[in-house]
This record gives sequence, structure tokens and C-alpha cells, in this order.
Amino acid sequence: MKIIEVSDYNEMSQKAAEIVAEQIKEKPDTILALNVGSTPMGLYSLLIDYYKRGELDFSQVRTFNIDEYVGLPEDNPQSYHYLMHKQLFSQINMDPDNINIPKGYTEDPDAAAEDYERKIKKSKGIDLLIMGIGVNGHIGFNEPDDHFSDDTHVVELQENTRIVNARFFDSVDHVPTKAVTMGIGTIMRAKKILLIVSGKNKHEALMNCIYGDVKPSVPVSILKFHPNVTMIVDNEAFYG
Ligand code: GLP
Repeated sequence: MKIIEVSDYNEMSQKAAEIVAEQIKEKPDTILALNVGSTPMGLYSLLIDYYKRGELDFSQVRTFNIDEYVGLPEDNPQSYHYLMHKQLFSQINMDPDNINIPKGYTEDPDAAAEDYERKIKKSKGIDLLIMGIGVNGHIGFNEPDDHFSDDTHVVELQENTRIVNARFFDSVDHVPTKAVTMGIGTIMRAKKILLIVSGKNKHEALMNCIYGDVKPSVPVSILKFHPNVTMIVDNEAFYG
């Protein structure tokens, strides 16, 4: 794992944007995997700036989002569909046909998860997967568990994750209890992974990942087994 230490959130976003921009310039039909959260918001706004300055063209880029809540309509302001369009897709020249987000608002989320995995497997593979980590060490919505999951699947969210994510909802009772997420296997099959980590509340999970054993109770620790991982970590996350 390559670890890039940066001073703060802005520098993390800047470095991440440089890496993503370089990837798209080198391979205009890059397949990206993306997630939603506080962490990538700065990165997304910098990518929009690149586009507006005429330095990046997203017309051939394809994306697969990593996760989505189950049960939120796509126009709900907390759904990852809504947030991805608001924070990135509506402001760059992505072809809507190239955007893929797991379906959480459907009668059969399990079948939708299987379809999503099939679609990823039929693609040429994710070139660069960009994600953050949860306070409890989750990646995507793969919660601490007794085994590592493989493909895209439906998960039951843990109470602490719902409490952490309640900041975006009226109350914790409004946070969905389930989500659909790429599995650990899906994530590990990406050719390159960029992990962005900012803030004191991620310190413990980050230390468990860097210095601890690889174990499903710390899902992010699996990244030690991936051949091409870059972590961009700010001072608060690194030093606590
Ligand atoms: C959320 C998402 C993850 C995200 C993580 C951290 O619950 N499911 O994809 O990486 O938790 O989010 P944030 O960047 O807001 O701290």
C-alpha cells in the first residue's frame, strides 16, 4: 500500500483529483467506481473545476457506484442516486448511459444486486475505484463481519453506521436499515484502489487497517492483499 500523507482535507481532495485526472487523461474511456459521503465531496468539486476549465473530458468515462440505500426513492435527497447527480454527474459531460448506480428502490433488491454484479463483470473491469472508510472500518457498506463478502449484495446496516449517517437525515429512525453494496470481492477486483481518509474519527479504523491483521471485523484491512492501493491520509486521520 502506498500511503500519501497530506496536511488536511483540502490537500487530500487536491491530491485525489490529480490522480483521477491523470487516469482519465491517460485512458479517456476509464471505468471508475465512486462513492458518496463527506469525504469525496471536495474531490468531486475539483473534478467539476477541471471540466469547466476544459482540462477534463468525461464523455467516454463509465462509472459504477459502490453502494446505495435500500428503500429510498431515487429522487430522495439522501439517496446516493440523487447525491451523485447533484454533486458530480449533473455538472460534467458524462453520458447518462455510462452511469451505473446499484438499485435500492426496487421490489427485489437481491435480484438487482445480482444484476449489478453481472454488469460489472461484463464490463472491462474497474480501472480505478475511489472510496472512503466508515468510522467502524467499513468499505462501501460492507460492515464488520465474521467473513469477507464476495459479490454485490444486500446488507443489514449496523446501528453505529446508522447513527453516524443520521447527520444527513431528520433522525436516526429515518436512516434506512439496509443497503446494497459492492462486495469485498467486487472491490478487490478493481485494478487500482484510491482510499481517501480525513478526520480524527477515522483514526482508529485507519490504524487497525495499517498496523492490524487482515480480518473481516475490520473490512478495510483486506486492502493489504490488493496489489495497487494508494491511500491519501490527512494529519488528523493519521495522528488522531
Ligand atoms: C458511508 C458510505 C461509504 C463511505 C463511508 C464514509 O456510510 N456507505 O461508502 O465511504 O460511509 O463516509 P464519509 O465520507 O461521509 O465519512
